[in-house]
Amino acid sequence: MASTTSTTTIRSLPLLHQGKVRDIYAVGEDHLLMIATDRLSAFDVIFPDPLPGKGILLTKMAEFWFQQMHDLVPNHLCHDITLEDILTDRDELRQARDRSMIVNRLTGFPIEAIVRGYLIGSGWKDYQSTGSLCGITLEENLQLAQQFHTPLYTPATKADVGDHDENISYAETESLIGVDHAREVKEISLAIYQRAAEFAGKRGLILADTKFEFGLDKQGRVTLMDEILTPDSSRYWDAASWQPGENPQSYDKQFVRDYLETLDWNKTAPGPGLPADILKKTLQRYQTALEILTA
Ligand SMILES: Nc1ncnc2c1ncn2[C@@H]1O[C@H](COP(=O)(O)OP(=O)(O)O)[C@@H](O)[C@H]1O
Ligand SMILES: [Mg+2]
Repeated sequence: MASTTSTTTIRSLPLLHQGKVRDIYAVGEDHLLMIATDRLSAFDVIFPDPLPGKGILLTKMAEFWFQQMHDLVPNHLCHDITLEDILTDRDELRQARDRSMIVNRLTGFPIEAIVRGYLIGSGWKDYQSTGSLCGITLEENLQLAQQFHTPLYTPATKADVGDHDENISYAETESLIGVDHAREVKEISLAIYQRAAEFAGKRGLILADTKFEFGLDKQGRVTLMDEILTPDSSRYWDAASWQPGENPQSYDKQFVRDYLETLDWNKTAPGPGLPADILKKTLQRYQTALEILTA
C-alpha cells in the first residue's frame, strides 16, 4: 500500500503555491517542482481525507499522456533536471519520489480549455437551464450523457482558490488572452481530445470530457501545462455500459461527486469526512483507469 502524502514539507525550496492537489516549489527562477499530493477535491473543495497513492497515479497518467501528445504541442515537462539535482535531503526526496514533475515555469493563461464529447456535469446543468453551453446553442431534447455530433470546445475561467470556475464564451477567451492565442488553444485542445478519445475508445473507455491548461514559455510559445487527461481533470466512462439518459459508470471523481450529492452539504469548505468505502472505491477507479489506458 502506498504511503499517504497530504501535504509536503520541502524546506530546501521556496513554497510558491498550494493548489487543491499540488504543492508547488520554485526551482530557481525558471523551473517548478510540482508534487502531486493525495489530497482529494471535488466541487473545488478539498476533503479532509486523502486518497493514499492518488498523487502517484495522477503523475503516471499525466506523464503517459504528455508523451502521447508530444508531437501535437510542446509541454511543460523539463527532462534536463532530475530530482536528485535539486533535492539532497533523504526525507525530501522521499516526499517527492514518484509523485512529482519538474517543469518549466510558464505564464499561465487565465482560462481552462475544456473539451466535451458528451453532455454531462456543468454542461448538462447549463443546458437544462438555458439550452446552451458557453454561448453555443444546442439542439433541443438532448439527454444526459448524450454524445455531441462533434466535440465542443467549452472554455471556463480559472477561478482563484475557493471560487468555482465559470463557463464562458469563446469570444470571452479572445478578450482574455487575445484572438491568436484563443484560436491556438482551442485548436490544440480539440486535437488532443480527439486523439485521446480515440485511444481510450480502443480500450473500451469513453473520454467524455477533459480540461487543459496552457501558458506561454519564455519564447512566447503556447505550451501545455498542469496535468493532462487524468481522472481528476477528465471524465472516463465505461463504454460498454454507457447509455444516454443514464448516469454512466465512471472511472474518475464522478463516483465521489455522486456520493456528495446525496448529502446535505452546500458544497463549500469545509468538506465532510468521507466513508472509508467511498474513498476505497474512488481510488480503485483511478487505478483501473490507469491500468486500462497504459496496459
Ligand atoms: N508549468 C507551469 N507553470 C506555472 N504554473 C503551472 C504550471 N503547471 C501548472 N501550473 C499551475 O499549478 C497549479 C497546479 O496545482 P493544482 O493543485 O492542480 O491547482 P488547482 O487547485 O488550481 O487545480 C495550477 O494553479 C496550475 O495552473
Ligand atoms: Mg489542478
